[in-house]
Amino acid sequence: MNSSNNADIHSQRILILDYGSQYTQLIARRVREIGVYCEIFSWDFPGAEKFAQTAQGIILSGGPESTTLEDTPYVPDYVLDANVPVLGICYGMQALAKKLGGTVSESSQREFGFAQVVVKQTGKLFSNLSDGKNQHDESLLDVWMSHGDKVTSLPEGFVTLASTDNAKYAAIANEDKKLYGLQFHPEVTHTKSGEQMLSCFLTDICGCDASWTADNIVEDIIDRVKTQVGSEHVILGLSGGVDSSVVAALLHKAIGKQLTCIFVDNGLLRLHEGDQVMDTFSKHMGVKVIRVNAEDRFLSALNGIDDPELKRKKIGNLFIEIFQEEARRIKDARWLAQGTIYPDVIESAAAATGKAHLIKSHHNVGGLPDDMELSLVEPLRELFKDEVRRLGDELGLPYEMIHRHPFPGPGLGVRILGEVKKEYADILRRADHIFIKELREHDLYDQVSQAFTVFLPVRSVGVMGDGRKYQYVVALRAVETIDFMTARWAHLPYDFLDLVSRRIINEIDGISRVAYDISGKPPATIEWE
Ligand code: XMP
Repeated sequence: MNSSNNADIHSQRILILDYGSQYTQLIARRVREIGVYCEIFSWDFPGAEKFAQTAQGIILSGGPESTTLEDTPYVPDYVLDANVPVLGICYGMQALAKKLGGTVSESSQREFGFAQVVVKQTGKLFSNLSDGKNQHDESLLDVWMSHGDKVTSLPEGFVTLASTDNAKYAAIANEDKKLYGLQFHPEVTHTKSGEQMLSCFLTDICGCDASWTADNIVEDIIDRVKTQVGSEHVILGLSGGVDSSVVAALLHKAIGKQLTCIFVDNGLLRLHEGDQVMDTFSKHMGVKVIRVNAEDRFLSALNGIDDPELKRKKIGNLFIEIFQEEARRIKDARWLAQGTIYPDVIESAAAATGKAHLIKSHHNVGGLPDDMELSLVEPLRELFKDEVRRLGDELGLPYEMIHRHPFPGPGLGVRILGEVKKEYADILRRADHIFIKELREHDLYDQVSQAFTVFLPVRSVGVMGDGRKYQYVVALRAVETIDFMTARWAHLPYDFLDLVSRRIINEIDGISRVAYDISGKPPATIEWE
């Protein structure tokens, strides 16, 4: 099924109501991975009702609150009025049970982490799932629990699908009404058969087919972009990062010569990065890319500035200034393409409702001033990062480009502590190149979520041969994380760190010492500035 034979890949959709769980986005990603389109709305967002009326099913997320208290988030009437299958997860299950006349109580024994539930009835949700058997030959499922409250009496028409010693109602169902509740989290990978449970819910119970696939999404976006921009011209700020690269490849496929990309080399990129971007897009794909070499302008704008937030602002503003200068030269441009992705959309909605808080002002190319009169094309607005990557693979972009670690907008500007100087950037680029290359060669690159080198403008004494060195220090940083909100420092092998350290000190004149950052987030952040 694809858009060229007129199938609408959005026609089957799942509503995810968010009750504040840290896993809500993960639920959405799992649903999409199974091949079904879904959107997340806060449980009290008025627009969610309209979406519910066109959805094949509704999932209620977990959340930090307790339904045993007054005025806590509840299940709105329209959820049941929509007459579609509903799956409540953790808090979502408790809120659903309460809505239907069951009771929820505070549990004396909280359950966090791994647990085994005993299957009492498979129902449609568990079909033939089993991760083992107990001594009574009952099936066991390995699950991830995280709850304080529990359902203590079932609403009418419900049966128990699974129990633990602590939670009699660990999974419940009313098969006639297609209402389901799981006290555990099927969306996390620790729940071994979680994906199959979600898949049973989406396909067998909600009746969705799996048409949300990379090739269908590509076709759908191409069709929509063509309709949106017609024969008009589009410009795109290409950074070489995953999102803007995928937008460039998609738009090139959709509108070819009507696309002009602007690539600003700000002198704060990684080694050979500018040339690689030009090679991939201009040379190999035939995309029209204007390269602006602006190292001098960025370095002079940063001259004498050492405050991290001010550096971010300077870099961001100058980027927009240069981008505008170039964009104005493209006479017939009517559209500005941006690589906004779904988490950005969710985040700005959260910020608008006061639910997000800012730790650092992350720079993204903002809109351009009104006098440029450009309308926005945002082809990735509905997609999660892993979906964007799958599209990149589908479009044939180089693996290294699509699967590389995130690189912040201000680039090395926030990895050189304090004032940025060309000398520092040149040293840092070379050290970072060694670190990243060795990570790849030792098959460690894909095992960490982000790795980079930080330049410390302090001098330290060293000896090389008979000589004394008095040179700069760099720190290596590598973290493992799922959402970049919290992170664990990567426990890279000592031998590996030893090799990287020796290579950096021996090969780069200017560095006498290498440190490894062993700070988690929190309390540290991933970047040093
Ligand atoms: P922190 O340092 O806040 O980083 O723990 C979390 C993630 O955000 C990236 N980061 C940025 N990305 N502009 C960006 O586009 C920025 O100013 C910026 N600061 C941090 C960081 O690399 C990590 O992936």
